This record gives sequence, C-alpha cells and structure tokens, in this order.
Amino acid sequence: MKAVAVFPGKPNSIHLAELPMPSVNDVPDGRGVLVKVLRVGVDGTDKEINAAEYGAAPDGYDFLVTGHESFGQVVEVGPSVRGIAPGDYVVATVRRPGSSLYDRIGMNDMTTDRTYFERGINLRHGYLTEYYVDDAEFIVKVPAGLKNVGVLLEPMSVAEKGIEQAYEIQRRLKVWRPERAAVLGSGPLGLLAALALRLRGLEVTVISRAEPPTLNSELAEAIGARYVSTLQTSVTQAAEQFGPLDLIFEATGVSSVAFEAMGALGRNGVLVLTGISGGGKRIEIPGDDIMLDFVLGNKVVVGSVNANRTYFERGVYDMALAAQQYPGWLERFLTHPVKGLENYAEMIRLLTEAKNAIKVFVEVNHDGLLG
Ligand code: BGC
Ligand code: ZN
Repeated sequence: MKAVAVFPGKPNSIHLAELPMPSVNDVPDGRGVLVKVLRVGVDGTDKEINAAEYGAAPDGYDFLVTGHESFGQVVEVGPSVRGIAPGDYVVATVRRPGSSLYDRIGMNDMTTDRTYFERGINLRHGYLTEYYVDDAEFIVKVPAGLKNVGVLLEPMSVAEKGIEQAYEIQRRLKVWRPERAAVLGSGPLGLLAALALRLRGLEVTVISRAEPPTLNSELAEAIGARYVSTLQTSVTQAAEQFGPLDLIFEATGVSSVAFEAMGALGRNGVLVLTGISGGGKRIEIPGDDIMLDFVLGNKVVVGSVNANRTYFERGVYDMALAAQQYPGWLERFLTHPVKGLENYAEMIRLLTEAKNAIKVFVEVNHDGLLG
C-alpha cells in the first residue's frame, strides 16, 4: 500500500513509499485494531520534518511515514479488543511509550526519557498511508456525529492538555476562578484553545499578527472571543486593556512573544507554552522586571507537549459541545483538502503557501467518510 514519507535529514525529500498491508496480528495479545485512514491533517511539524529540521526513521527503515493528525474507520479488531468495533470512527494518539515511570502509567506525553517515540514524527511511522494498525490502548473513538471534523481531534488534544495543565497547577490556589484569558496565535491550535476556554466560560482575547478581518479573526469572534492584531496592539497593551489575565495560552512558537507574555500575565496567573520554537534565536528581555513580577505575583509558566488519551477524550467532549453551541464552526477549519496520498506535493505547497488556510488535510479515502 501507498504511504507518504520523507528521508529524515534530507530536505524536501517527501515522496510516495510502499509499505506492506498491516494486520491486526502485528500487535501482540490480540489487541490490534486495523484502521482505514480517511483523513490526515498536516501542520508546521510536517513542514519542518520535510525541511529536515527534525524527524527520525523507525529502526530498520531509511524513511519515515509522516502525518500525525489522523482520522479513520475501524476495519478489524483483534480478539482481546473490547469497546471498539469495525465501522467505528477513530483517531489514534501520537506518542508511544518509552520506559520512564510516566510511560508505564499511560502518560507517555510526560516521559522523562531522552528519546520519545511519536507516530509520524520521531522513530515511528505515521498515518499518511492507506491503513494502519495499533494497540487498542492508543485508539480513541469519535462519535459518528463528529465524523466531518474528527481530523481536528489531535490538535484539539494538544490544546486540552495545555489547559488542563493550567487547571492542575492552579489547584495550589485552593480556589481558582479564572475570568480572563488570552490566546497568542490564531492558527488551528490557538483557535481550538480559544474554543476550549470559551466552553469553560472565560472571556477570551485572541492576539495574533494579521489585521482583521481574516478567517482566523472571524472564527475567534464567532465563538465570542475578542480578536486583537499585534500590528495595532501589543501583547502588553492588550493585557492592560483587557486583563488582568488569569491564563495565557501561547501558540505562536515565537520566543519573543512568549517572554512578552510573561510580563503580561496577571497576579497568580499561569502561562502555558505550547508553541515550538526550533530556531535557536537569541532575544533580549527585561529580565529583572519579569522576575520581580513573577515572584511578587506568584506566577507560573509551564511548558506542555503532546497529549495522552485522557486529553483526546476531553477533546471529543469539547468538540461535541462545540457542535451544539457553535454549529458549523469546526467545519470552517477545513479550508484546504488535498485529494489522495499521491498529491503530497500539493499538500506541501499548500502548507507553505496557502493564504487563508486554517487546516490543510489529505482526503485519503473519501468514500469511507461518506459511507
Ligand atoms: C504534535 C504533537 C507532538 C509535537 C512534538 C506536534 O505537532 O501535534 O503531538 O508531540 O508536535 O513532536
Ligand atoms: Zn501537530
């Protein structure tokens, strides 16, 4: 069967590879789930993997099958699988266990190992392929009513984890009733974080570069968030105008923005960093001021990566709520479909060039989704 792959370390090496058809028996103890891939979303990570900025092939291969935002339909399950049946719509998680304590209790996203295993990213093949098989442990069911937007569940899980981390940390306050939040960045992750925060009843300001109106600004406003362009108002100014900010969710991956956000955080506030900055850039910051305010204001900054199945499940729940509260909103993310795995070049082109793209995704097996 066909798959889209790169040769890690070799820039712009994206190509079609050939893989053997997987089988439920590839997974031990009868726990295999064979999934027909329907859609796969792509993001900056895929772009960077194709640019050879990171990514590694699994042992025994010189290529890595890419794609970590999956959506598919179950074809067959092994004899020990309960609660998942052929025909179910599913999304697979991304990170696979290493050996740390956290990995052993299902929190692969919190591994302390040096090496991490992520399908489509690092040392494990991804989902830009016709079928995949995995342990039922890593397969999350999506209700049929969400099948049109199920491909957004992986980025949603990343937003859910970041927000959940903030709430967990704020248990230090015994009572935490956050009122105002800012989300930095209005790409899919930023918008999904804004959604999750709106669903929790917060007033949300989305701060992003582009001047409104854009599809991104319209999507923010459609869920009752405020949209602010940094070309008009800096993060610091926005915090003065619309704060105090109890929570800031950073989703730009730009370090100057993240450090400005530290200064913009309210007392007892929590800043969640989810954007990945691989650039190695050096910046200048008002270190003394930030440090003083952090200490005197009991502030927290936390980094958050990936997501375990708990956050995928929370994502399903919030996406179902969103479908009720903001019908049609999630569907508007699906701006740039690419038909078929063989159009991988178009996929990369849209990922780098498409203006107004929210989500570029590949329709791997469109018939399945309609059926
Ligand atoms: C993925 C995460 C992953 C992270 C780091 C992101 O694009 O959505 O699942 O953990 O990259 O590799
Ligand atoms: Zn991603």
